Parts: sequence; C-alpha cells; structure tokens
Amino acid sequence: MPRITFVSPDGAKHDVDAKLGASAMETAVKLGVPGIVGECGGGLSCATCHVFVEPSQIELTGTAGDFEEEMLEDAMTPATPCSRLSCQIRMTEELGGLILTIAAEQ
Ligand code: FES
Repeated sequence: MPRITFVSPDGAKHDVDAKLGASAMETAVKLGVPGIVGECGGGLSCATCHVFVEPSQIELTGTAGDFEEEMLEDAMTPATPCSRLSCQIRMTEELGGLILTIAAEQ
C-alpha cells in the first residue's frame, strides 16, 4: 500500500496507507484526515480537495489537466503550479511516499 503524508496547514503530519487505485482525496476522507472535504465525491466539480504536491514530486503526479486547472482557478486558497485536486491523483505503487500539503481553505 503506497503511503501518503498529508501535511495540514499548521504543519501537522498525517501518514496514511492508500489502497492502490484509490484517489488521494478518497484516502484522506476515508481515514479521517482533516481538511480535505471532497464535497462532490471526486466529480471534479467542487475544488474542496485542493492540495499542494511536494515540488520535487510533481513530475510523479503530473500537473493539473486543463479542466482541473480551470477548477483550481476558483479554489478558495490560491493555486500554485504544484496545486492538484486530490480526487484526480490515483494512487499507484510509484506514488508511495507522496507528500501533499492541504490547502488552508477549501
Ligand atoms: S472532490 Fe470535488 S473536485 Fe475533488
């Protein structure tokens, strides 16, 4: 199971083991990581699952697609080049060790 470290805006770390194929958002919501809302259930229509990928890992996750980027423009916390909607990050073994900082406002 690939491990994800979610970092809260206050710096608190939450290490969780993700199921292969699950999204980072689903993993956070299921395991009670605070700060990820996931209001639309992963439908790419709410931007309440905004995270910042550790810059050194953005090549692994890839950057946001065009539509995702449009959604991020309306995110409560301003997006950066490392912003992703965590419902769009599907966990693979290669993503083990992923570090995602949760946006302060969702
Ligand atoms: S959960 Fe709604 S866009 Fe990710």
